[in-house]
Amino acid sequence: MKRPVPEVHPKPGARVPRLWRQEVERILITDDQIARRIRIMAREIVRDFAGREMVVVSLLNGTVMFLGDLIRNLSLPLRLDFIGVSSYGAGTESGELVFTKELRLDMRGRDVLLVDDILDTGKTLYRVLGKLRALKPRRIKTCVLLNKAARRIEAVEADYVGFEIPDIFVVGYGLDFAERYRNLPFVGMLHPHVYDQASQQVKPVRPGKAGRQGGD
Ligand code: PRP
Repeated sequence: MKRPVPEVHPKPGARVPRLWRQEVERILITDDQIARRIRIMAREIVRDFAGREMVVVSLLNGTVMFLGDLIRNLSLPLRLDFIGVSSYGAGTESGELVFTKELRLDMRGRDVLLVDDILDTGKTLYRVLGKLRALKPRRIKTCVLLNKAARRIEAVEADYVGFEIPDIFVVGYGLDFAERYRNLPFVGMLHPHVYDQASQQVKPVRPGKAGRQGGD
């Protein structure tokens, strides 16, 4: 039986490291909390995939940290593949999804674990699941570090969820704002002035990217 998924809420807690204090307002999930939760998720996954030929399919780029920590805790044979998908266009809600990297491994008859960093509107996972199913795997299970259920548009849920989070824009541990902050070891919230500055830039790194997760 699965344990309940922890819910996290912004509250005063862990101190933001001095290096990041100008930009990061608050830590939502600490690196220790992430590490502990991943070990629990990994145990569930190992139990469910034991004895099968497992392929882990990870979505680029946000999974970079989560994937590394997850698979080092998956003590069973696995293959690893990546799929690239991005939302382009000025609209934050209607940005069209474009595949930027295709799978290389054969998925037919395999047991697939699809890994993403955050499940938000569900558009990405819905689209990728459709693509994967067409490749005739034996089964697909989905695994996300963060679930923002309040923003769901597509009817898609993940089988393994690290944390339930409210509708706030989060960065760190792989998640970006305008391609920055992926290297933070924790999940946190930025000071509003960071968004204000970005919106005042003449040429933002990725127009419309800032609002991808909503919460603003
Ligand atoms: C982010 C995130 C998820 C997706 C979730 O990807 O990594 O893949 O959005 O959003 P959704 O549920 O509303 O579809 P993004 O396109 O920002 O690319 P990235 O992984 O490179 O940051």
